[in-house]
Amino acid sequence: MNDFEQLNDITAPLLYWYQGAARDLPWRRDPTPYHVWISEIMLQQTRVEAVRGYYARFLAAFPTVAALSEADDDQLNKVWQGLGYYSRARNLKRAAVMLMRDFGGELPADHAALLTLPGVGAYTAGAIGSIAFGLPTPAVDGNVLRVVTRLCANGMDITKQATKDRVTAALAAMYPQTPDEAAMMTQALMELGAVVCVPGGAPHCTECPLASTCLAHAEGRETEFPKKPPRRARTVENRTIFMLRHEGRYAIRRRPEMGLLSGLWEFPGVDEEIGADGVSDILARWGITALSVAPIAPAKHIFTHIEWHMTGYLCETQGTSDAFLWETPKEILERYSVPSAFRAYLRLLDADTADGIASV
Ligand code: ADE
Repeated sequence: MNDFEQLNDITAPLLYWYQGAARDLPWRRDPTPYHVWISEIMLQQTRVEAVRGYYARFLAAFPTVAALSEADDDQLNKVWQGLGYYSRARNLKRAAVMLMRDFGGELPADHAALLTLPGVGAYTAGAIGSIAFGLPTPAVDGNVLRVVTRLCANGMDITKQATKDRVTAALAAMYPQTPDEAAMMTQALMELGAVVCVPGGAPHCTECPLASTCLAHAEGRETEFPKKPPRRARTVENRTIFMLRHEGRYAIRRRPEMGLLSGLWEFPGVDEEIGADGVSDILARWGITALSVAPIAPAKHIFTHIEWHMTGYLCETQGTSDAFLWETPKEILERYSVPSAFRAYLRLLDADTADGIASV
């Protein structure tokens, strides 16, 4: 028995639907290999609406593979700031360097060669290959897994690599072989998952071009698919963040080159919750004395597997410490990549540029 038999009849209705329903997205207007690559990397963990602005700014800063290969790391991080998963940006630059060195500055029109690029896995290689070069290579992301498992009422665990491999193979066996149709097929499957066969609640089956062949729909079991194991609980890390201010300048430091948010900028902090009476001891470690200490409202940031629960203090300090850079709010906001995990504190900085006083 073929578990994926329902895939056999989808090409014509799906491509027809896509031609009428496709959203007008910037990366669909001029799908050069470079544009497709950048957009697919950005879209991996980020919503379409969030990516739009970043995509335009990224291409303005780095319009070509050559420009990206020579990117200044801090400028690259700054352009990426707020998109998260910064290793994606680092891998883009590493891949651009490799493209300049080994591929004449062009993305290769070959699945196996694409897979050798840093940050390019089966999904991205499939997407670039099909959308940019018309190769019959499927790109199986969460949207596509949802569409396929519902269509086939398939209860395999979609978080398993074996499931992704089987779905990829089943799609590869039915992919259209003409370049235009292969390109459209990849986008159509993603689009259907993004706008019709949606996650989190009832899908819009009345608008679906595949409703008549969908097994989950026939059985009224759409929301039972895709199957995933329960999420693993996140680890909570308590942190204390210090906004140290001296003569209108704030202390910032670069995070270590390894680990979470590596190489980005932050306000000094410690990996424990410090009460107001413990602040001076921490500042003493940095050789700093506080003239005043004001608590900042607690803040949280959620990463994939970790949650930061942050306490914060705004401290007016007597002097500065060479352990940190001391910069004005405007400089920090414009020139340094401080990730969104510090959003609550960046807001205070922003308020400080507006009225000269950070209110807490
Ligand atoms: N999600 C991932 N890739 C996409 C694309 N090319 N268009 C729309 N959404 C996407």
